[in-house]
Amino acid sequence: EKGTYSHFMLKEIDEQPFVIRKIIQRYQDENNALKLDDKIRKAMQEADRVYIVACGTSYHAGLVGKQFIETLAKIPVEVHVASEFSYNMPILSEKPLFIFISQSGETADSRAVLVKVKALGHRTLTITNVPGSTLSREADFTLHLHAGPEIAVASTKAYTAQMAVLAILAVDTARTKGIELDFDPIQELSIVANAMEILCDQKDEMDKIASEYLSTARNCFFIGRGIDFYVGLEGALKLKEISYIQAEGFAGGELKHGTIALIEEGTPVVAIATQETVNLGIRGNVKEVDARGANSCIISMKGLEQVGDRFVIPAVHELMTPLISVIPLQLIAYYASLQRGCDVDKPRNLAKSVTVE
Ligand code: F6R
Repeated sequence: EKGTYSHFMLKEIDEQPFVIRKIIQRYQDENNALKLDDKIRKAMQEADRVYIVACGTSYHAGLVGKQFIETLAKIPVEVHVASEFSYNMPILSEKPLFIFISQSGETADSRAVLVKVKALGHRTLTITNVPGSTLSREADFTLHLHAGPEIAVASTKAYTAQMAVLAILAVDTARTKGIELDFDPIQELSIVANAMEILCDQKDEMDKIASEYLSTARNCFFIGRGIDFYVGLEGALKLKEISYIQAEGFAGGELKHGTIALIEEGTPVVAIATQETVNLGIRGNVKEVDARGANSCIISMKGLEQVGDRFVIPAVHELMTPLISVIPLQLIAYYASLQRGCDVDKPRNLAKSVTVE
């Protein structure tokens, strides 16, 4: 039920802080120990490489998941688009573990890979919002997103839930392997939930940004470096699927290798700048597009902000920024869709679960 909300998408965006808190609650016991199936623990410990396979938004969560698992658990990770994997199989490591990320658990492209790697005898784990789904039943193990039903076609709370569960999996693996972490990622996740709430209270500002930058736009670019780039990919996907504005996410440094030719007077460029190590670099990229007439919109993080940034998100741990920097992008896409009179919850040509390859 939508309740007082005009659209499921807005309701689901607002639910994100509660979903993160619920995930922490479901995966942590009263002594702050993580509760994960021992078999999953063992599978992660024994894996010499993790292969994440997913589509669309879930693929974007997988890209962030790679950062979590490599940084915290020190296991190499490859992330693959499911539809490519089937015929473009990489050379596998000796002890691979496959992680399928799928909100619906019914995505045919992902299932095709699952069937294939299972037949090869490899271990499989599905991270899904629907525990009884096909991908959940057919994989060796399942991790539940606990996000509650997601009705809007554009995925929002499932994306942030996927990243939170991947963070928990990475932390659990690090702890099991005895890897010392200099921060408590679970504690950081609760800081994330609070920051999400602050962002969800700033809808009017997002409505304004959407009308300032996108009301007449034909296209829009999202740029970032490092994990900000991955969030940019997701921001672009959200915008194109519900507002039909052609949008692309790019690595900031890659622009000058071709894409910058598309920048004209007034082209909107949303830059995500939440990472200290690449702050100078991404701001340099903004200068490059500004010099070509772009209408740039910098979304930065408290502590790294500069005069002229259009929006500043609250400070969270640098690894956790995707969980909150995506919220303004979800809301901008939502308002752009509304302002253009599109069907927010049921965009044309799309279905909630894609059960054909
Ligand atoms: C975008 C979106 C899609 C899905 C993709 C995978 O908002 O929802 O890109 O993420 O179709 O779906 P699942 O996660 O159900 O496998």
